[in-house]
Amino acid sequence: MARILITAGPTREAIDDVRFLSNRATGSFGVMLAAIAKQRGHQVTLVLGPSSLQAAAGVEVLRVESAQEMFEAVQANFANCDVFVSSAAVADYRPKQRIDGKLKKQEGELVLELERTPDILAWAGAHKEPHHFLVGFALESDPDPALAESKLVRKKCDLLVHNSPKNFGVGGGLVRIIDVAGEVFAGEIDKAALASRLLDEVAARCGQR
Ligand code: CTP
Repeated sequence: MARILITAGPTREAIDDVRFLSNRATGSFGVMLAAIAKQRGHQVTLVLGPSSLQAAAGVEVLRVESAQEMFEAVQANFANCDVFVSSAAVADYRPKQRIDGKLKKQEGELVLELERTPDILAWAGAHKEPHHFLVGFALESDPDPALAESKLVRKKCDLLVHNSPKNFGVGGGLVRIIDVAGEVFAGEIDKAALASRLLDEVAARCGQR
């Protein structure tokens, strides 16, 4: 039994009290991974961004909205997890200022100033202890394997899923799983099979420690 912490879903970055910046993620992969991990007897905490999906019974769910809230939930739970799976599509930028109330329209263009959000997986990589196992995702429009490999090293992941934006919002697609030694899997796979495969790879590697 491992303690597995998963982030999933999109984040919402507020512009004003009624508007936000977000992305097309649904959280379906992370919710499915959490359910399968729970079925296998693991202790699962799911940090879930805005999603219409419900987590399986027995999964501890921490609902968050923004990248900052997701970051704080991960920071609070990271030390007590063995495996961190960063499947959330975290917004990389947020409006620099949140406007109180509702922004009124004006003549001409509107320029929104954006600032970076915290990179949650990079933080986890920087605070990784020997008992931690990190699984990251790389969503790359460019199929060049070097991009995913550099993300694995930069964010100190033990495994990384190289995914394409074409797979966003659909049941599955062409993915690669890599570790520091190279390619572990490459092919068409649906989300449930990918979740099972990832848990198998994690179990095999954690068992060798
Ligand atoms: N991630 C994160 N926090 C962020 C951005 C990304 O934890 N603020 C995590 C994602 O959950 C994923 C991994 O980092 O596991 C890679 O995300 P991706 O969007 O592919 O890449 P970025 O790091 O945002 O890099 P780039 O924009 O250069 O592709």
